[in-house]
Amino acid sequence: MAKQIRKLNVAMIGYGFMGRAHSNAFLQVGHFFDLPYELKLKAMCGRNRAAVEAMAAQWGWEEAQTDWQSVVKRKDIDVVDICAPNHPHAQIAIAAAEAGKIVLCEKPLAMNVAEARQMANAARSLPNLVWFNYRRVPAIALAKELVEQGRVGKPYHYRATYLQSWGADPELPGAWRFRKAEAGSGAMGDLLSHSLDLALVLNGAVIEVTSLMQTFTPNREVDDAVLALTRFANGSIGTFEATRFAIGCRNRNYFEIHGAEGAIRFDLEDLNRLEVFDRGDAVEIQGSHNVLVTGPGHPYTSHFWPPGHIIGYEHTFIATLADFLNTLAKNQQFHPSFDDAVGVQELLEAVETSARTGKWTKVSADDATVAAIQ
Ligand SMILES: NC(=O)c1ccc[n+]([C@@H]2O[C@H](COP(=O)([O-])OP(=O)(O)OC[C@H]3O[C@@H](n4cnc5c(N)ncnc54)[C@H](O)[C@@H]3O)[C@@H](O)[C@H]2O)c1
Repeated sequence: MAKQIRKLNVAMIGYGFMGRAHSNAFLQVGHFFDLPYELKLKAMCGRNRAAVEAMAAQWGWEEAQTDWQSVVKRKDIDVVDICAPNHPHAQIAIAAAEAGKIVLCEKPLAMNVAEARQMANAARSLPNLVWFNYRRVPAIALAKELVEQGRVGKPYHYRATYLQSWGADPELPGAWRFRKAEAGSGAMGDLLSHSLDLALVLNGAVIEVTSLMQTFTPNREVDDAVLALTRFANGSIGTFEATRFAIGCRNRNYFEIHGAEGAIRFDLEDLNRLEVFDRGDAVEIQGSHNVLVTGPGHPYTSHFWPPGHIIGYEHTFIATLADFLNTLAKNQQFHPSFDDAVGVQELLEAVETSARTGKWTKVSADDATVAAIQ
């Protein structure tokens, strides 16, 4: 019997860096994955008509629009994808949810916890996704499998750094990232949010945090760097560092976990690799295995290229979208959902509170449950 393919018309709000990454994923996902949906790039939406028209033409969107409010209500739109800066995420997501749309939103989900909860409530009965795309890096998905298999054993240390350097450049574009009213925060919401999402997935709930936030640049409204210490519910302890001032590092999203049985280590600047240390190896050959995570048998890799043929940043968005569409077809809950991102937002708020008060800050029991996301 011929497979039933449902068409989904997509509207994208915002068309910068993530607009390109998501447009590419919408275009590519059906080539790499066998899916019961066909995505149509229907309407790209921005504020500047000439700019959005040029971008829509470049990426093959059918229409360029400048009024997102009317676009998200349209009957012929099934999916609203939010690629705008952080401050309009809530307004757009809630309007799209009220219009009954499938809602996809970039991270950080919201400007604060209250907004994030409103968004999660509005979208709860609808399929939704937050683009914490790093979960679908094959090497990170493999790390999760190894943790679940007990290969790391009882965890002692979780260590994450997210190091960028562009914040030190006064001439750079994308100035909304430095305005509190548009970004909410700096390195914290931008970079630490990714590290915390991965930590929750790989190491479970966080009970309490203490932190330090620093702005090096005079008159800048948001943090340039943030450090945090955490206690996890599983008894391990964590250190986190996220900065836009790590001169020499472009996009070093890094973590390592040390447990009773072994260790794993990942660096996004070498994203096809995972370092694995197994204490079960004969002692005379103990050392890190530098695993090339391109198959055979590694998560997602059979959908891309033959083993040994590396993938890139863009594949993380394609794999995220593929998993989302497969869960949609099965009427299942996708992760990371808006509810999962509320857990991240609660941790970010605890980090901010601790930096302000100089005290350890508890993540409440309820929040810790929410934060132990899937
Ligand atoms: N998942 C990731 O790895 C990742 C990476 C980068 C950015 N992001 C997130 O994606 C979002 C967008 O970031 P970006 O890097 O694409 O930014 P960008 O500056 O490259 O693009 C932002 C786009 O939104 C448009 N825009 C600005 N204000 C708007 C408004 N009020 N209404 C509608 N459109 C508006 C701009 O014209 C532009 O097209 C942010 O939430 C950011 O945190 C996620």
